[in-house]
Amino acid sequence: MPEPRPHAAGETVLETLGLTKIFGGLIAVNSIDLKVHKGEILSLIGPNGAGKTTVFNVVTGIYRPEFGNVFFRGERITGKKPHQIVSHGIARTFQNIRLFPDMTCRENVMAGRHCRSTSGLFSSIFRTPRQRAEENLIREAAEKRLRQVNLWRSRDELAKNIAYGSQRMLEIARALASEPELLVLDEPSSGLNPRETRDLMAFLQGIIREEDLTILLIEHDMNMVMGISDWVVVMDGGRKIAEGIPEDIYADQRVIEAYLGKEDEDSTAYDVPAQH
Ligand SMILES: Nc1ncnc2c1ncn2[C@@H]1O[C@H](COP(=O)(O)OP(=O)(O)OP(=O)(O)O)[C@@H](O)[C@H]1O
Ligand SMILES: [Mg+2]
Repeated sequence: MPEPRPHAAGETVLETLGLTKIFGGLIAVNSIDLKVHKGEILSLIGPNGAGKTTVFNVVTGIYRPEFGNVFFRGERITGKKPHQIVSHGIARTFQNIRLFPDMTCRENVMAGRHCRSTSGLFSSIFRTPRQRAEENLIREAAEKRLRQVNLWRSRDELAKNIAYGSQRMLEIARALASEPELLVLDEPSSGLNPRETRDLMAFLQGIIREEDLTILLIEHDMNMVMGISDWVVVMDGGRKIAEGIPEDIYADQRVIEAYLGKEDEDSTAYDVPAQH
């Protein structure tokens, strides 16, 4: 039995039960049960091809699962469309950054906020006072997020022209602009240098402390996983092979084998970090 997690007292924000996604003959996600509690950072780890991103894609409505269900705050959201999932309060970033490259940073973040706007088509054509007021609110919310990720000075630059590390933060700002309850990040530190990774960790720890937020993370940087996670779930070959607090996962033989391969395999997906 896994140890009780520090945040288990919090209500369940996201739950998957028996989640299964099949591509052709490949069972990419095989009967995955996940429970994410309010206010925690849960990291999903595992070697390349384990099925991590596919779990995210099913949770965020990109794929419909063959079997199983997704519940958000107790409500079944299985099979809903991505924009519906966002309006429920789940926002995500992508393993490969997906910004609008020819829009400014500010416009990118405003686009993230638009899912919460309530003006209909009529008012968006004729720009009623209500729509102008809403546009101002969206702008203010976007500006707050740009400041928060330290990109205020780049607000009028095109997204494609800012540094790679800044693009990763811009994508997080765009996700936050929808005021999600659950922030879903697919390898946010990928391509960042060690300093940027440390800044990202501090940023995530800050927002989880200061905002009413829960974070579900896929991460390959094991120092980051060990440093910020409340709970770690390990996948391999589509299955959940272990879960627990970071210290226990770190020492789990099944996890070490999944990362390093068994004795007769020489594939090393990535390094298990030195004990610290
Ligand atoms: N759209 C798709 N069509 C067919 N196969 C897919 C599709 N998406 C993912 N797969 C396959 O499903 C398996 C799991 O892929 P997934 O991207 O979820 O792994 P991952 O754990 O995120 O890996 P990585 O660490 O490399 O990002 C892989 O074998 C992958 O090739
Ligand atoms: Mg992936």
